[in-house]
Amino acid sequence: MKAVVCKAFGPPDQLVVEDVPSPSPRETEVKIAVHACGVNFPDTLIIEGKYQFRAEPPFTPGGEIAGEVLEVGERVKHLRAGDRVMTVVPYGGFAEEVVVPAMGCFPFPKDMEYTAAAAFPMAYGTSYYALNQRAQLKKDETLLVLGAAGGVGLAAVELGKCMGARVIAAASSDEKLEICKKHGADEVINYSDGKLKDKVKALTAGQGADVIYDPVGGDLFQQSLSCINWNGRILVIGFASGTIPEAAVNRALLKSCSIVGVFWGASMMREPQANQDNFAQLDTWFGEHRIQPHVSKVYSLDQAPQAMLDMVARKAIGKLVVKVRD
Ligand SMILES: NC(=O)c1ccc[n+]([C@@H]2O[C@H](COP(=O)([O-])OP(=O)(O)OC[C@H]3O[C@@H](n4cnc5c(N)ncnc54)[C@H](OP(=O)(O)O)[C@@H]3O)[C@@H](O)[C@H]2O)c1
Repeated sequence: MKAVVCKAFGPPDQLVVEDVPSPSPRETEVKIAVHACGVNFPDTLIIEGKYQFRAEPPFTPGGEIAGEVLEVGERVKHLRAGDRVMTVVPYGGFAEEVVVPAMGCFPFPKDMEYTAAAAFPMAYGTSYYALNQRAQLKKDETLLVLGAAGGVGLAAVELGKCMGARVIAAASSDEKLEICKKHGADEVINYSDGKLKDKVKALTAGQGADVIYDPVGGDLFQQSLSCINWNGRILVIGFASGTIPEAAVNRALLKSCSIVGVFWGASMMREPQANQDNFAQLDTWFGEHRIQPHVSKVYSLDQAPQAMLDMVARKAIGKLVVKVRD
């Protein structure tokens, strides 16, 4: 079978696409025929050896998988060959077939296509866990989403609206902000001029946002500390800017605000019931057409390295998906 292989840590253009042996499931695993695999920022860090865990080369990147079960291990009872499933794993998905733990595989709504299913669990799972469990976002609060046209960001915009918040989407270009408006943003901010905090204050009568969703880090995080409301929550989602910020915690004291960590991948293992409940709600909202992954570009398996290059170049709007088979 064909797979994208990372033979040594490095940028996406060092990945190769080649034939590798077809994997076999162990007793608690399933083998999946991959139909589509979402591209996520962590993929671009994992292949460089810069993520919070290290995969040892050679390995196949790609973690957000939608496909059909081909084979189940002896102890797997809740799945069988032919089931359509989605799953999130650390790596392995940019391939025609993959073996994954059965317990992490979930069926997805019948009216969701494989391409959408490969753009769904990471973005919406992360953002709903962040807004629901971590920020406890309430109706009528103001939610500011940074990197709002990115994968997790655009999901946060839609979910903020589902939860009854006023949503301000912030991104680096007007083209990106147009997409945010289409996905429900009440107001938008172009932060390419470096004036995020002034613009947030102007839109909130000087008070600041109640919840700030930050997948970017760097200077935008520093500005967030100056435009968070009293009792506000700043969600630490990630550092797409490449800079992990340090906080002057006196500013947290002055606003009585919280800097709240979010690690959705680990929460799935530690709080599986809450994760399942979250996905039940997400499936309901999908069925009601209140959330819909925005897949802006579809790539073939051979083009997976280009998809990662586009993400690093900040070109992705919504989600990029690698389609492995029709
Ligand atoms: N905590 C968790 O559980 C969790 C789960 C999933 C992902 N994440 C993290 O969330 C972050 C976003 O992931 P994603 O898959 O949504 O990525 P994405 O689609 O590429 O979105 C990231 C956004 O960050 C902004 N950005 C600013 N500087 C950038 C730079 N130098 N390079 C690339 N983007 C830059 C871009 O928006 P503008 O151009 O508009 O600024 C971009 O749309 C990553 O750091 C990822 O590791 C965390």
